[in-house]
Amino acid sequence: MANQEKITLPADRLPVIRVVAMPKDTNPGGSIFGGWILSQIDTAASIPALERAKGRVATVAVNSVEFHEPVFVGDMISCYAEIVNTGKSSITVKVDVYAERNPANLETVKVTEAQLTYVALDENRRPRVLPD
Ligand SMILES: CC(C)(COP(=O)(O)OP(=O)(O)OC[C@H]1O[C@@H](n2cnc3c(N)ncnc32)[C@H](O)[C@@H]1OP(=O)(O)O)[C@@H](O)C(=O)NCCC(=O)NCCS
Repeated sequence: MANQEKITLPADRLPVIRVVAMPKDTNPGGSIFGGWILSQIDTAASIPALERAKGRVATVAVNSVEFHEPVFVGDMISCYAEIVNTGKSSITVKVDVYAERNPANLETVKVTEAQLTYVALDENRRPRVLPD
């Protein structure tokens, strides 16, 4: 989605992860490797899932990922994660990723959106019913 309107970070919630994109995370084209962003997303989404499951979870599916805009070295990445659905053992989490760049004239860009599903696991790594 090019030519986004000027936006700011969401004011009504806190990011679960903030991290600066580093030169080691680039792809051959010079922007940030999508796999690095996916790693941040999986880590971010697992946090509310772990809290809800009150124990071990595993990623069972990456249901969707949309890379709206590129991420560049030095961008401050903020990942917002919220549970959008729960089942018997599963927890589905939506993640919104924003990049902040150019601190002298701050620009905020929504770069990626994703939805992932986690399953609460028991000690044998089998699905476990979610606690109340
Ligand atoms: C997670 C795992 C234990 C689930 O085992 P399973 O036999 O598929 O379990 P079930 O069929 O009983 O499904 C468990 C839940 O996951 C959900 N689920 C399974 N596959 C899914 C998928 N592709 N998308 C969304 N939800 C899925 C089911 O709907 C069910 O939800 P519910 O209990 O809320 O109704 C198993 O798939 C596994 O170990 N996967 C590897 C996980 C992992 O290592 N992840 C890290 C990435 S390497």
